[in-house]
Amino acid sequence: MLISQTNEWQQLIEHKKEIEKKQIKELFDSTPKRFEEFSIVFQEILFDYSKNLLNNQTKNLLLKLAETTSLKTKIEAMFIGEKINTTEKRAVLHTALRYQGNDKIVVDNEDVVPQIKIVLNKMRTFVDSVHNGKSLGATSKKFTDIVNIGIGGSDLGPAMVVNSLKFYAVEGINSHFVSNVDGTDIISTCAKLNPETTLFIVASKTFTTQETLANANTAKKWLTNKLGNNPEVIAKHFVALSTNIKECETFGINKDNVFHFWDWVGGRYSLWSSIGLSIALSIGMNNFEQLLQGGYEMDCHFRNTEFDKNIPVMMALLGIWYINFFGSKTHCIVPYDQYLAKFPAFLQQLDMESNGKYVTKNNEQVEYSTGTVIWGEIGTNAQHSFFQLLHQGTQLIPIDFIAFANCLKGNENTKQFEKEADEHHKILLSNFFAQTEALMKGKTKDEVLAELKKEGKSDEEITHLLPHKIFMGNKPTNTLLIEKLTPKTLGMLIALYEHKVFVQGSIWNVNQFDQWGVELGKQLAKNILPELNNNTDISSHDSSTNGLINYYKKERK
Ligand code: F6P
Repeated sequence: MLISQTNEWQQLIEHKKEIEKKQIKELFDSTPKRFEEFSIVFQEILFDYSKNLLNNQTKNLLLKLAETTSLKTKIEAMFIGEKINTTEKRAVLHTALRYQGNDKIVVDNEDVVPQIKIVLNKMRTFVDSVHNGKSLGATSKKFTDIVNIGIGGSDLGPAMVVNSLKFYAVEGINSHFVSNVDGTDIISTCAKLNPETTLFIVASKTFTTQETLANANTAKKWLTNKLGNNPEVIAKHFVALSTNIKECETFGINKDNVFHFWDWVGGRYSLWSSIGLSIALSIGMNNFEQLLQGGYEMDCHFRNTEFDKNIPVMMALLGIWYINFFGSKTHCIVPYDQYLAKFPAFLQQLDMESNGKYVTKNNEQVEYSTGTVIWGEIGTNAQHSFFQLLHQGTQLIPIDFIAFANCLKGNENTKQFEKEADEHHKILLSNFFAQTEALMKGKTKDEVLAELKKEGKSDEEITHLLPHKIFMGNKPTNTLLIEKLTPKTLGMLIALYEHKVFVQGSIWNVNQFDQWGVELGKQLAKNILPELNNNTDISSHDSSTNGLINYYKKERK
């Protein structure tokens, strides 16, 4: 049975008719302790969801909906390694990669925990040897630049974490990420590097991804052109992160230089595996382990906490509330932190590749929305670009506001600006607090009238301006206020969103761990590529595709 056919779903439809008559600000007036009632603190994270269109009845109905789907059992099934990725017949165990307990986690009769430890130890040895100069390039020079070549989950996660944790970066190591098959990416990256001191990491779960292999081959060519085409050059300057050791060897990477992971790690969940090598090289292995620790702490919270005090569960239920009962189509993420600039892009893959599915695990076509369009930008920049639409546009767009209570200080390079950093941080946070308040409260007709009169505007001007200056308010927001950006809190934050996505997909009953939707475009591109190799007109497609390809062939020089 589809979830939309349950009583709980129908009750929520009815309840929505009541709640939509209310304003969030009225809910605050009627419940003085609303903040305390509708917020959760877990370790360094405060999650405030009081500025949402919900009351206790909404919360209870949403929690009942979660229970109807046997959410607790589904969570447990993931953690113990059941093959919940049904179309690929795989376990889903990114949580095992950060597991710090003593239990076994068994897949196909084998405990995966010792295997994970072996790879972590291999990563530590390698990272330390790059940092202390035991591992050198082909001309015996120390590595200064690390280029991660990968795409999707083999790029977005590590690139986001390396960027977010720049403050903790090891001195003397510069990190670069190449993902796009547009040659500009790899060529412009290599152009600024010295081959003697550059280490390439080819990150690909399958080691068959067209973009990654094209970029890796160009990198290999660039390197061997400069340092000589011999196996020692490749052996010293290339490592691979993959589940496919055979293909790595075919590419020319020695199996000792392959950091292995397993098919039960989904691409978009893989930053915790050896795919995180670029992270460990950037911030050191101890910090990488702190990231894992943070992920593990959030796993324990998610697995063991009652749903009404469970941050990922409550976040997910609020998302369902707006997507399925209010018809919202998008969800905006606004981190008020420059370091988190790549966080919205990372969440796009995590959420949209996971839950953008129209068929349930029971092969039924859904009759409700699944997934949402994730988008966003850092604050305060976003305030000066798309916030106008959030405040006065016509769509309901729930927003997550994320910020850290303390800014990062104490770094040699920034020491002289510590006072300024604090001042900037206060300005940043004043905007952060003001926006959720403004989105909720809006500005009434009476308030605008009083303001315009005070400004001395004529009656005619007032009539003209009045509607443009009214803000309806009542825009729902979540706030995540975190003590400080550290490897551990970042690990917690990432795992929090992973679990939010898990809960939503579990309620919609879709398989969140496959991505067949990406395949069709890949297949068609492979058919088209050979057709671009000559100048004759083609006629094998529809008239638009034929027309575009033939126009391109005429235009290209
Ligand atoms: O785009 C689809 C996808 O399969 C993603 O899920 C994955 O993260 C990405 O391609 C890269 O795949 P791979 O790591 O195998 O190169």
